[in-house]
Amino acid sequence: APLSTLLNVDEIEAAATKVISKRAWGYYFSAADDKISKYLNTQAYRSILFRPRVFVDCRTCELGTNLLGHKVGLPIFVSPTAMARLGHPTGETGIAEGCRSFRALQIIANNSSLPPEEVVANAPPTQIFGWQLYVQLNRKLSESMLARVNRLDQIKFVVLTLDAPVSGKREDDERINIQANATASVSTQLFAGTDPSLTWVDTLQWLSQHTTKPIVLKGIQTHEDAVLAAQYAPFVKGIVLSNHGGRSLDTAPPAVHTLLELRRYCPDVFDKVEVWVDGGIRRGTDAVKALCLGAKAVGIGRPAFWGLAAGGVEGVERTLQSLFSSKIWISIVLLT
Ligand code: FNR
Repeated sequence: APLSTLLNVDEIEAAATKVISKRAWGYYFSAADDKISKYLNTQAYRSILFRPRVFVDCRTCELGTNLLGHKVGLPIFVSPTAMARLGHPTGETGIAEGCRSFRALQIIANNSSLPPEEVVANAPPTQIFGWQLYVQLNRKLSESMLARVNRLDQIKFVVLTLDAPVSGKREDDERINIQANATASVSTQLFAGTDPSLTWVDTLQWLSQHTTKPIVLKGIQTHEDAVLAAQYAPFVKGIVLSNHGGRSLDTAPPAVHTLLELRRYCPDVFDKVEVWVDGGIRRGTDAVKALCLGAKAVGIGRPAFWGLAAGGVEGVERTLQSLFSSKIWISIVLLT
């Protein structure tokens, strides 16, 4: 289907599903166990309703914001997602190009299919990125990756992912692997080298010795851990409330629930670190709700991959575009 006929993320997902390999679909679509968290991630936004105020001048609507001190064009970023080339030959550079016209932030995954140097080199010097780290059992591998990232000025921060010490039980990925008679599912292969022994003090101390960039901790799911994370400010500059798109621990809470928990039990955290969320954002209204509830930005994982698979760079653009049609975003002006 021509991209112009695809009006929303669900339609883009359906179009992508028709054109990608089974293996890519299994890896992208899958989530842990019964996919309860994946389902609730979108459902949670649907059950939060607006209180729209009227008689507010909506002629201008500024979508630009500042993330960790860097100007971006949208409060929507692309979350780190491994293996973009499984779904489209342009891979992470295609996503970067799709982000460019919106000045949207992209976080390059540790397990990206193209090296970060290449993704960044293809972008203009003004385009900014984050880089996501899975600490490897062989620490020397992570240390050399961090050294490479230190040299890339366009990468402004390192995102340390904490909610997946081991791979979740992703059955769509496993099933397709069994049918194909391959040795191991994509997820199993990717997680083979990751270190499941990370802890607050030791890991953050190790990391501080190997990076020159500020840190964002991804996968915070309780207010207790948000408070702990904020104790490491200003080295830790941000947290991403996330359940990994439901791919890690099934029945972990949707990020927007954790966001509400933080507002109630540790509102000071919002002054100490930037609070971002991801998981289940499929509509502009979802993003607006998270922003109204105190998130500084929202991330999209699968939607960017569906866009890339459905239409390359333009597909990514179409996905981003579908999330901030002006009609919807006027709500921000109404609510904040
Ligand atoms: C992910 N995610 C992820 N997170 C991370 O920190 N490192 C990674 O390598 C990956 N890889 C990855 C691959 C695929 C195919 C998906 C779908 C997700 C999780 C990702 O960053 C994000 O938290 C979720 O995707 C957000 O949920 P939605 O937007 O997909 O609903």
